[in-house]
Amino acid sequence: GDLRVRGISSAIRVVPNFPKPGIMFQDITTLLLDPKAFRDAIDIFVDRYKDKEISVVAGIEARGFLFGPPIALAIGAKFVPMRKPRKLPGEVIAEEYVLEYGKDRLEMHVGAVQPGERALIVDDLIATGGTLCAAIKLLERAGAEVVECACVIELPELKGRGKLDGKALYILVESR
Ligand code: PRP
Ligand code: MG
Repeated sequence: GDLRVRGISSAIRVVPNFPKPGIMFQDITTLLLDPKAFRDAIDIFVDRYKDKEISVVAGIEARGFLFGPPIALAIGAKFVPMRKPRKLPGEVIAEEYVLEYGKDRLEMHVGAVQPGERALIVDDLIATGGTLCAAIKLLERAGAEVVECACVIELPELKGRGKLDGKALYILVESR
């Protein structure tokens, strides 16, 4: 594990002062450019979840869409997109969450998840935890059990983990 994790960590580019002064942006596009590190990241998640009887992987738009589908395919689960407002054509349920400035909303199709399903939520990064918290609420409203949330990176100083209501959170690397 350790060597692979170090490779993943060093494949993530840190961009200072993006998108605004003082922010150290964690850029996972450079991880996607490195097939070995990208595969290692997916493999580590797959090893962790393959025997946990997960039937649904929920990925969060946009960057959760890069990591969720390969995990879902490898563990034989369905993939459910959680989208930003007004993107999904069918009937949806929605949860608002607070951003640094203003609000955003995640939507999920009604009927995509059945009561009693075991769900894994995938995103690239947890910062304040607001996004994952909204995703947990959507799945629980649909009657699913959220087994765990999985992210590539955590920004631990923002303490987003504490917002997850005791839900398990698994991360590959901490921000540099
Ligand atoms: C980023 C990141 C996570 C979220 C984490 O997404 O990809 O989804 O912020 O922040 P939080 O823990 O404080 O809620 P963003 O909303 O910037 O959009 P994107 O994934 O579409 O680029
Ligand atoms: Mg995102």
